[in-house]
Amino acid sequence: MVRPRKAVERLKPYHPPREGRGGKLRLDFNENTVGCAPQVVRVLRNMLSSDWLSRYPEYEEARNALAAYFGVSPDELLLANGTDDAIKMVCDTFVGPGDEMVVPAPTFPVYEFFQTVAGGSTKRVRYDEKFRLTAGMLLAAVNKRTRWMAIANPNNPTGTVVSQRDLRTILRKAPDTLILVDEAYVDFSGQTVLPWIRKYPNLIVTRTFSKAFGLAGLRLGCILTNAEVAEPMRRAQNPFAVNSLALACALEAIKHDKYVARYARQVCSNRDRLCCFLDKIGIPYVHSLSNFVLARVGARASEIALKLRAQDILIRDWSYDPRLQGYLRFTAGSTEQTRRLIQGLAEFQSLMETSNGAGRRRKPAKKSSKGRSS
Ligand SMILES: Cc1ncc(COP(=O)(O)O)c(C=O)c1O
Repeated sequence: MVRPRKAVERLKPYHPPREGRGGKLRLDFNENTVGCAPQVVRVLRNMLSSDWLSRYPEYEEARNALAAYFGVSPDELLLANGTDDAIKMVCDTFVGPGDEMVVPAPTFPVYEFFQTVAGGSTKRVRYDEKFRLTAGMLLAAVNKRTRWMAIANPNNPTGTVVSQRDLRTILRKAPDTLILVDEAYVDFSGQTVLPWIRKYPNLIVTRTFSKAFGLAGLRLGCILTNAEVAEPMRRAQNPFAVNSLALACALEAIKHDKYVARYARQVCSNRDRLCCFLDKIGIPYVHSLSNFVLARVGARASEIALKLRAQDILIRDWSYDPRLQGYLRFTAGSTEQTRRLIQGLAEFQSLMETSNGAGRRRKPAKKSSKGRSS
């Protein structure tokens, strides 16, 4: 039998996210919960009646238009099949066996996944007990073998950000390490370091159309970095990784960025409404600058997640992470969706360990199977 590479042999089986989410209230993947701009759907319909499906994708026009949208030049932009693919491209280009990377913990698990597939190892830097993370903590993990560092800003699942001051310090003090700043949730946080790509030669920024833009199913992400870093990635890239439908829809979506901005504003105010409710019932949570909230409901977190699921409300159980036992993550959606979530949570309040004494303590329930967080 032909054996896979050692790194792949050592990989733990991948547990895909739960299936069967259609028709349910999806507050588990930090997606757009109401859908993309209607004009985008119209473009998609029109494409199906032309010869788009039988032709290989063409990238030039899309790359130029997206570069203009992001305010970079086309040679500073790479198209990817979602941020996941962008992360893989970084590993394909820059990581070999024995190379290291640094990530905050907890964070989006795909960075470590592709790092491991490439044969590299990962140094996780834990947030402190108040979910704080400083430049000093991250820099302390960097050494000569550190090829890259991934910082989701805001981070998933905490919703916290590394300050711009800290990011500047990291970029300056680790000049031989690529610093990937994943801005998947930028539309909610309003904070970006994209204009810095010409200033810091070790900065890579990623953006996605999966979150506020509402195109997660189409899979489109962008890598934005200086031309010297972009060039080898372009050489190593899967030449047809991005499909034509995703590109045409993204090009229409950026024409309606006001729609996206309005959606993001609504979501942020609904996130704050959810936080007010958590305050009222005494559930601690992490202050979030994104479209989700990580809250500590206590030892019966998994049970609460399952009970909500039985009501067709999907949320993310983070209890499998040993440092996040008792934590659930809720995506904020429309006002009506948030009302439904709050109503569901109110119903199971007696199962929660609130700081004002409600709820009862019990032995932790058996953990649900590990999944990738999205
Ligand atoms: C921080 C972060 N980056 C990237 C992604 C995935 O983005 P994409 O759909 O573009 O692969 C997620 C998904 O949840 C995420 O939380």
